[in-house]
Amino acid sequence: MKRREFLLGTGAFAAPFLMNGCCNCFKANEKINVGVVGIGRISTTMDIPRTIKFTDQCRFTAVCDLDSKRLNHGVKFIKDQYRKLTGEANAPVRAYADYRDMMADPSIDAVMICIPDHWHALVAVEAMLAGKHIWLQKPFAQTVREGRLIAEIARRTNRVVQVGSWQRSVMQFARVCELVQNGRIGEIKQVEVGIGLDKSGGCSTPEPIPENLDYDMWLGPTDEKAPYNWTRVHQQDLTKIGNRPGWIQMAPYGWGMITNWGAHHLDIAQWGLDKDDSGPESVSGTCEWMDLSGGKLWNVHTKYDLHYSYNGGKTDVHVCDKFPMGVKFIGEKGEWLYCMRGQAKVTPSDPDVPSNGKMKPLMASKNKLLEPIVNPAKKVRTSEDHWLDWLEGIKLGDPSYTVTNAEGAQRSSSACCLGQMCMELSRGKKDGASLKWCPKKEDTCCEKARAMMKPFARGQYDLNKTLARFGVTDLKA
Ligand SMILES: NC(=O)c1ccc[n+]([C@@H]2O[C@H](COP(=O)([O-])OP(=O)(O)OC[C@H]3O[C@@H](n4cnc5c(N)ncnc54)[C@H](O)[C@@H]3O)[C@@H](O)[C@H]2O)c1
Repeated sequence: MKRREFLLGTGAFAAPFLMNGCCNCFKANEKINVGVVGIGRISTTMDIPRTIKFTDQCRFTAVCDLDSKRLNHGVKFIKDQYRKLTGEANAPVRAYADYRDMMADPSIDAVMICIPDHWHALVAVEAMLAGKHIWLQKPFAQTVREGRLIAEIARRTNRVVQVGSWQRSVMQFARVCELVQNGRIGEIKQVEVGIGLDKSGGCSTPEPIPENLDYDMWLGPTDEKAPYNWTRVHQQDLTKIGNRPGWIQMAPYGWGMITNWGAHHLDIAQWGLDKDDSGPESVSGTCEWMDLSGGKLWNVHTKYDLHYSYNGGKTDVHVCDKFPMGVKFIGEKGEWLYCMRGQAKVTPSDPDVPSNGKMKPLMASKNKLLEPIVNPAKKVRTSEDHWLDWLEGIKLGDPSYTVTNAEGAQRSSSACCLGQMCMELSRGKKDGASLKWCPKKEDTCCEKARAMMKPFARGQYDLNKTLARFGVTDLKA
C-alpha cells in the first residue's frame, strides 16, 4: 500500500487495517510533511526551530491553534523561518482552527503536538488513527489510562512516536543510565530525584473571554464551567508567547512539577533502572499544596516528599524538593552517579567530579566511575538530536527507533501520575498516603486511585467518541 493511499483513507478504519498500518514508505530524498498543533511557548521556542532546520528531511506545511491570534502568528512564524533557512519569500502554510480538520488533511505525514497536557491524548489518538506519526510533548498523558490508550493506538497503527522528554538524547543522561544498567555501582539502593518547586499565583477573578480564543475548546475534556482568566490559560500578549503559561500549575490541565519535570527526571530514573516496560510497586509520601488565599488561582502541589519502591523493595526512588534538580543513582556500597542538564565534560581523562561541593551536570563519587564501558552488555539506545531522531525514525518507518517511544513513555508518565495520585490521596492526612501498584496490570486495588486513572471526557471531547469515529470498536478508553 502506498503512503498516500493510507492517508487518504479517512472515515472508518477496519481493525485489520490498523494492525497493518503502512509505515516504511519514505524514499531517501522524500520530505516528511509536518503540521504543528499548538502555537505556544514550546513550539515557537523549541520544537519548530529545532525541527524545521532539517530542510532536507522535512517540510512544515500546516499549523493549528484554537486561538486565532496564535494561529496567525504560527503561519507568519513558519514563513519567517523558511525566509531565513531557504530564502523563500512566501512559503505556503495552511492554518487550521480545529485539529480534526488538520488530521483529515491527507498531505500531512506527521504532526508535532505541543498543547497543554489535558489535551494530549485526544489529539495524539486522532492523529495516529488518521495515519500521522507524532511528536508528543511530555508528559505523554494526563492519566494512566489515557497513556495506555495512546500506546495501544501507536502499536496498532505502527506510527513513530517521539515524546518531548528530550534528556534521553543528551549525553550525560545516557552515559549515567548505561553505567547504572551495566552495574558500574552495583545494585541500586536509592535514586534521589529533584524536580524543582512551583510558586503559588494566578488570579481567580473572571474576565471576558478574548474573541480570538475558543475557550470552550481550550477547556476540552475538562469542566466547562471553569471561569476564564488569562492566568488559567496563556498569555494574550504575543510578545510574551515564550513565557510560562498559567495552566502548567493548574489542575486538571497540568499536575505541577510531578508531571512537568517528573516527565524529565523520573523518566531518567526509569531508564537507569531499566524499567521501560515496567514501573514501581508502590508509592508513598506527602506534599504541600499551593496557597489559594487572596484570590490566587493555581492549585497544584508545592513541596513534595515521595518514595517509590522498585525491585521488590530493594530500590527506593526518593523524589523530594530538598534534592537539587537532577537524578542521583546510589549503589549498594554508597558510590553514586549524578546527572542533570547543562554542558558536561565527559572525557575519561577529564570528567566532572565534585571538587567544591557544587553540583555539575555529570558527577560521580569517584572519577573513574564515569569512564565509559567498552562493549557494554546493555547498550542504551542513544541519539544525539532528539528532533532529528524523530524524523529519522519516520524515514525508516521504525516505531522502535525513537529514544522515547510510546511504551517507555507510557511507563515514565505512569510513574509521574502515580506520584500525583499519591499526593492527592494524602490530602488532609498527617502521615501521608501509600498506594500499591501492579506494573504488570497497570492497576491498583485502591478505588480512589482507580478513579484518578480514568481519561477526562466532556461532550464531543471524549476518547471513546474518537475511537468510534474511526471505527475502532474493540477498545475503550
Ligand atoms: N519538553 C520540554 O522541555 C517542555 C517544557 C515545557 C513544557 N512542555 C510541554 O509542552 C506542551 C506545550 O506547553 P506550552 O508551554 O507551549 O503551552 P502554551 O500554553 O504556551 O501553548 C499551547 C498552545 O496550544 C494551543 N492549544 C491548546 N489546546 C489546543 C487544541 N486542542 N488544539 C489546538 N491548539 C490548542 C493553545 O491555544 C496554545 O497556543 C505541554 O505539554 C508542556 O507540558 C515541554
